[in-house]
Amino acid sequence: MTKQQLTDLLNSVKYPNLDKSIVDLKLIDDVKIDGKRIFITLHMQNEEAFSYLQSTIKDLLKDFTVEVSLKALQKKDIKYGSTQKPNNRASYAKKVIAVTSGKGGVGKSTVSTNLSIALAQEGFKVGLLDADVYGPDIPRMLNVVGEKLRWSSDDKILPTENYGIKSISVGITTPSHDTPLVWRSSVAISALIQFLEDVKWKELDFLIIDMPPGTGDVQLTMAQEVNLAGAVIVTTPQQVSIDDVSRAIMMFKEINVPILGLIENMSYFVAPDTKAIYEIFGKGLGEQTSIYYKIPFLGKIPLLMDIREGSDSGKPPVVFGDESVKGYYKEIAKKIVKSF
Ligand SMILES: Nc1ncnc2c1ncn2[C@@H]1O[C@H](COP(=O)(O)OP(=O)(O)OP(=O)(O)O)[C@@H](O)[C@H]1O
Ligand SMILES: [Mg+2]
Repeated sequence: MTKQQLTDLLNSVKYPNLDKSIVDLKLIDDVKIDGKRIFITLHMQNEEAFSYLQSTIKDLLKDFTVEVSLKALQKKDIKYGSTQKPNNRASYAKKVIAVTSGKGGVGKSTVSTNLSIALAQEGFKVGLLDADVYGPDIPRMLNVVGEKLRWSSDDKILPTENYGIKSISVGITTPSHDTPLVWRSSVAISALIQFLEDVKWKELDFLIIDMPPGTGDVQLTMAQEVNLAGAVIVTTPQQVSIDDVSRAIMMFKEINVPILGLIENMSYFVAPDTKAIYEIFGKGLGEQTSIYYKIPFLGKIPLLMDIREGSDSGKPPVVFGDESVKGYYKEIAKKIVKSF
C-alpha cells in the first residue's frame, strides 16, 4: 500500500458525529508503512473520540497490523489572562453580555434565549453562545436540535440561525440529545474558546453568553478571555436562590465585571382561571437584593405555563407568546440597551 492509497482510505474515516473526515480535519500527524505494518499518529485532544477512531481505523485496515497512537494536541493557547486586563477573543462583538446566576434551574437559558431574540427584534445583530457544555439547552429552546456542525469554506464553524439570531452550542456537536457530556474542565474550556474564536459570527452588536450554573471555571475563564460589557444575573425569589446569587454578584464584583442588573424570574404565579396571584417562592427578595448590592433591577418575569411550554418545544415566548409575555423580555432588553 502506498501513502496515497492509505490517505484515500483514511479519508473515509469520519470524526464521530461530524461529516468531516480525519483527513479533512488534518488530524493525521504521521503515517509509516512498513510492509504489512502500518503506524498512524493522530494529533488531537479528545480521548474518547480517539479511541473510537482507533478502532474504526483498525477495522478498516484489518488485513494489516495497525498501530494508531495519539499525539496530544497542545491545549488551545489558553494563556489565562487576568480579569483586570482580559483577552479580547470576541473582538467581532461590540458588547459581550454574560447571563449568569449562582444557581441552577432559575431560568438563565430561557432568559438568554428570549433576551437575545428581543435584542434582534430591536434590529441588533445578535449571537448566542451556549457556555453550558455539560447541559447545553439552547438548541432545544431555539428549535435547532437536529442540526449538525457545519463548516464554511474557510474552515470556520458556521453558527446555527433561527428566530433572527445566530447560536452555537456543544448540543449540536453530539449525535443525540442524551449523549453524556463527560469532559474534563480543561477540554470544556478549550471548546468554549473555539466557540469564541473559530465560529463565523461575522460582526455582532451583542454576543450573549448563557452560563452554566455556579461560580466556577467557566465564569472565570469567560471573564478572562473576553472583554465582558457586563453580567445579567438571574434569580428566583426564594432565599436559597438569593444566597447563591449573592455569591455570584460578589464574584463578578471581585473580578471587575460590571453587573448590568438582576432579573427575578418565576416571581409569582398567576392562576389561569381566577387570575389570582400566588407568590410561591416569596416576595420582594429580588428587589431587596438589588438594592442591597446597589445593582439595577431589570424586571420580574412570572412563572407561566406558556413560558415553560414554549421553551421546551422550541417556540420562544418572546416570539410566540401573547403580548404581555413578550413584553417581559422586551422591557428587559430595552433597559439593557439603555444602560450602555
Ligand atoms: N418564567 C418561567 N415560567 C415558567 N417556566 C420557566 C420560566 N423560566 C424558566 N422556566 C422553565 O424552567 C426550567 C429551567 O429553566 P432554564 O433551563 O432556563 O434554567 P437554567 O438556569 O438555564 O438551568 P441550568 O442551571 O440547568 O442551566 C425550564 O424548563 C424552563 O422552561
Ligand atoms: Mg441553562
